[in-house]
Amino acid sequence: MPGTVVVGTQWGDEGKGKLTDVLAEDMDMVVRYQGGHNAGHTIVVGEQKFAFRLVPSGVLHPGIVNVIGNGVVVDPRVLLSEIETLATRNVDTTQLVVSGNAHLVMPYHQELDVLFERHLGDNKLGTTKGGIGPAYADKALRVGLRVQDLLDQKIFRQKLEVVLKEKLAVMAKVYNRLGPTADDICDEYLGEIAPRLAPRIVDSVHLIHTALEAGKKVMFEGAQATFLDLDHGTYPFVTSSNPVAGGACAGAGVGPRDIDRIIGITKTYMTRVGSGPFPTELFDETGDLLIERGVEFGTNTGRRRRPGWFDAVMLRQAARLNSLSDVFLTKLDVLDTLPTLKVCVAYDIDGERVTHMPYHQSDLHKAVPVYEELPGWQTDITSCRTMDELPKAARDYILFLAEQGGVPISYVGVGPDRLATIQVG
Ligand code: GDP
Ligand code: IMO
Ligand code: MG
Repeated sequence: MPGTVVVGTQWGDEGKGKLTDVLAEDMDMVVRYQGGHNAGHTIVVGEQKFAFRLVPSGVLHPGIVNVIGNGVVVDPRVLLSEIETLATRNVDTTQLVVSGNAHLVMPYHQELDVLFERHLGDNKLGTTKGGIGPAYADKALRVGLRVQDLLDQKIFRQKLEVVLKEKLAVMAKVYNRLGPTADDICDEYLGEIAPRLAPRIVDSVHLIHTALEAGKKVMFEGAQATFLDLDHGTYPFVTSSNPVAGGACAGAGVGPRDIDRIIGITKTYMTRVGSGPFPTELFDETGDLLIERGVEFGTNTGRRRRPGWFDAVMLRQAARLNSLSDVFLTKLDVLDTLPTLKVCVAYDIDGERVTHMPYHQSDLHKAVPVYEELPGWQTDITSCRTMDELPKAARDYILFLAEQGGVPISYVGVGPDRLATIQVG
């Protein structure tokens, strides 16, 4: 049975956690395929709210295997603290496992992330300061430590000593800082963390393929999103991995033919955290309203997100980059009070109308959105559970986005709760 990918189509925080949780009901396995604890995936179940950083969003459904795939960078301190918190909330995590091939986020990665951002000054990326970029950089440099190294004390120390020597020299000579010692790191990672994590370390590729071969349903949960993708996002204002659907292949160890559905998660407006171009960004009271009604503050960092009107040019590009089968449109309820809604259908770049995403960053900075205006519905839709219950203007808005994006919309979110979901058609 081929798998399903859940992928963000904007700049993150579209509601991937919610959709993964909703669909996990029918799944046997959920696999996170990239990113690290820079993610913050929220799930609301009645009065309870969960925010996951590394733990896959299928964990609230008993009986599902949750896998942290090889493409993820794992800060084991964050993972263990998430597992502990879940235990206090009576969530069973016995079926949560982590790939031995995933790379470890080390204490020096976090320090270097902070120091490098400071070094960039006004050009900073606005990272989540968790060491994600430095950990992926070490993976590419082939000096990263992997989760499996926790199982071999001698190898772990050997690899650490080689890489730490260079990190400490950089910290001292470039940043005038003292870094952590190998003994400190070994005490924590081998002494405290390894014994606790060891029972969860697996050959994730074998596990996933055994499930697929047995006809089990596997879902691949992306973190971040298409326009934060290292190759396809608004570089350099991106993350250091490949959130696009293709990233699920490398990050979980499956081939494209192991995937038959790719669901894009799209908010009814845009947000982004951190720096970078944003053609439809709003700096007025409509933007404030979106932030306020959508509670658009970083799940982990608390940072105010930047708001903007819906950008159909970007959805079109996301549909191409991910081969989207369909879309889950979230947060329709946030628009409830607005009299009119604007949708960017093209960009005006140096007087030319462009309907696809320009490849050149300078063009994106210059892009002036061409808007179409649609009437709002000015009705509370949070209790609607079918398309028929939605006001006509809301249905028209959904149809317009689907037509503009060139991709069908299968689900619509009308509130944070897992039940506040409308299945279309
Ligand atoms: P993710 O990173 O893509 O999983 O998204 P986040 O969890 O960072 O941000 C999405 C936020 O929107 C969370 O606070 C969710 O609880 C909330 N949310 C998700 N879907 C809806 C929806 O349909 N309506 C409203 N009002 N909130 C939603
Ligand atoms: P989820 O999975 C929104 C952004 C950061 C910064 C850039 C690089 O919850 O959608 P990094 O720490 O990854 O090196 O930061 O990427 N960013 C996110 N923005 N949602 C996320 O995750 C993000 N993860 C990283 O704000 O601009
Ligand atoms: Mg998030």
